[in-house]
Amino acid sequence: MSPSINQYHDVDIHSSAIIDDGAQIGVRSRIWHFSHISGGARVGCNVSIGQNVFIGNRVTIGNNCKIQNNVSIYDGVILEDGVFCGPSMVFTNVYNPRSLVERKSEYRNTIVKMGATLGANCTIVCGVVVEKFAFIGAGTLVNEDVKPYALMVGVPAKQIGWMSEFGERIPLSMTGDEGRYKCPHTMQIYRLIGGQVVREE
Ligand SMILES: CC(C)(COP(=O)(O)OP(=O)(O)OC[C@H]1O[C@@H](n2cnc3c(N)ncnc32)[C@H](O)[C@@H]1OP(=O)(O)O)[C@@H](O)C(=O)NCCC(=O)NCCS
Repeated sequence: MSPSINQYHDVDIHSSAIIDDGAQIGVRSRIWHFSHISGGARVGCNVSIGQNVFIGNRVTIGNNCKIQNNVSIYDGVILEDGVFCGPSMVFTNVYNPRSLVERKSEYRNTIVKMGATLGANCTIVCGVVVEKFAFIGAGTLVNEDVKPYALMVGVPAKQIGWMSEFGERIPLSMTGDEGRYKCPHTMQIYRLIGGQVVREE
């Protein structure tokens, strides 16, 4: 990466990227070729922003996120820490767009909570909350809120299981009420309580 004229401290910005005045970008972040960060954007520390990424004004991106190539993050999207946006996945912010009707005051917010993965080429219809460590499979269409640790695939998205923070299946039931699982990689303990997976602190 060839450093451009860079007013940011300890941020790698490729010379082809455009960073509008006012954008906040945390230390150790990296911005690759042809990406555009709008002036109102708030980008955390150690964030990787791939090639041809657009980040709007009313956007917040937490620490340690990875935004892969060809992702546009529009006004009203909030990514908490550690969110993974796969290549060419799509956010939206107008629920019912018409070219001939002005809807800028009707943007619906989208919140993606800590550690969630949004797979390649998935689409997130605006107004939903993707809860922490949910895993959205490649090509999935999300049009409803997603539970923590839920593994969702298909069009529209259906839950097919649970995914650990490590990124492997949690073998707990989706219909039962109780269960316990220990991740062999991290030793973290997951519990199924009332149809939801929680991790023990
Ligand atoms: C979801 C994923 C992790 C697979 O998880 P898994 O636990 O190994 O799931 P399996 O492959 O055993 O599939 C289970 C079922 O879900 C289906 N399935 C898996 N991924 C799917 C997807 N993305 N969309 C639709 N269906 C999917 C399988 O076809 C299978 O269906 P079946 O039971 O009818 O045969 C993987 O398919 C995926 O989408 N990864 C995301 C990759 C990505 O976007 N990377 C971005 C960085 S390059």
